[in-house]
Amino acid sequence: MGKFRLGQSKEDVKGMLPEGNIKVTQLGAKKLCVVRLGEKVYAFEQLCPHRGASLKDGHINRFEEVICPLHSYRFNMNTGQLTSGGGCGDLEVYKTNLTEEGLEILV
Ligand code: FES
Repeated sequence: MGKFRLGQSKEDVKGMLPEGNIKVTQLGAKKLCVVRLGEKVYAFEQLCPHRGASLKDGHINRFEEVICPLHSYRFNMNTGQLTSGGGCGDLEVYKTNLTEEGLEILV
């Protein structure tokens, strides 16, 4: 497992991740989606475990779920649990920590 850092400060990270906008970032060998809601940042695998759509084009709802753009399956961004839909596994999620020194992501 590797620890990656994005940005130099919390403000830096907020500038890079406008509220609710899903961004894709490459960390080591993995491409992840990263999204910020307030002081909380979520990181999860880029491709939907159902049929591989890019979750970058998905939506976020007020239940901390990402909704896949292709078949509207929903995944909890904290746990990765599939909350609506069937026939696929959970989403892989990664731990994040937003600090005054920037954003840490454990991959
Ligand atoms: S590809 Fe994501 S729900 Fe089907």
